[in-house]
Amino acid sequence: MSLPKVEMTIFETILARRSVRRYKARKIDRTTINILLEAAVRAPTAIHQEPWAFVIIQDKQLLRKLSDQAKPLFLAEARQRGLEHSGHSFEIFNDPDFNVYYDAGTLILICGRASAPFYLADCWLAAENIMLAACAMGLGTCVIGSALPALNIAETKTQLNIPENFLIVAPIVVGYPDDVITPALRKPPVILATLAATLND
Ligand SMILES: Cc1cc2nc3c(=O)[nH]c(=O)nc-3n(C[C@H](O)[C@H](O)[C@H](O)COP(=O)(O)O)c2cc1C
Repeated sequence: MSLPKVEMTIFETILARRSVRRYKARKIDRTTINILLEAAVRAPTAIHQEPWAFVIIQDKQLLRKLSDQAKPLFLAEARQRGLEHSGHSFEIFNDPDFNVYYDAGTLILICGRASAPFYLADCWLAAENIMLAACAMGLGTCVIGSALPALNIAETKTQLNIPENFLIVAPIVVGYPDDVITPALRKPPVILATLAATLND
């Protein structure tokens, strides 16, 4: 596979990556998707299980339908888990016009074979590879965790050709950003301890 020439260093890419929630209509092409998947499968994988598999959705009507299914289920789950008290408002999920996939042209579902002991970790590492590779190529991404309760319903999985023994772990929208992306603000790292050996050891 011929890889794109990117100008950014890995650290510049890490600092530049943001969740993008406004996208241009332009769809990403198959070659770009293949590059992102190639990045995904290079992630570390516990006991070399490579438990991931991918579904690519570029059908706007289907994305809208999946979004409409996602909103009430996410609200129900948020209520059940007491997330309304987290200080974050979920009111937008009641808005019929709100698309949980932000009208992005492409959704990548990272699915994990649930029998693999560290499939969640493996899939999330693959997710970060996709997001960093996308960022370095000038693309925007956003994890859509709120879609998970609806996506993992048996009928939806069947419709998306996902075998029973796989779970959808990381839904990620990808597209051309229609926003100015500014670097993320983060608290400084909390260091609980620094334990260094002394010279006499
Ligand atoms: C597991 C997970 C689930 C997420 N789910 C959503 C989501 O459903 N909708 C959304 O807009 N952003 C979602 N995000 C993105 C976070 O809101 C975002 O990463 C956070 O606000 C930090 O911003 P940044 O990614 O721009 O640095 C999710 C992120 C993670 C890691």
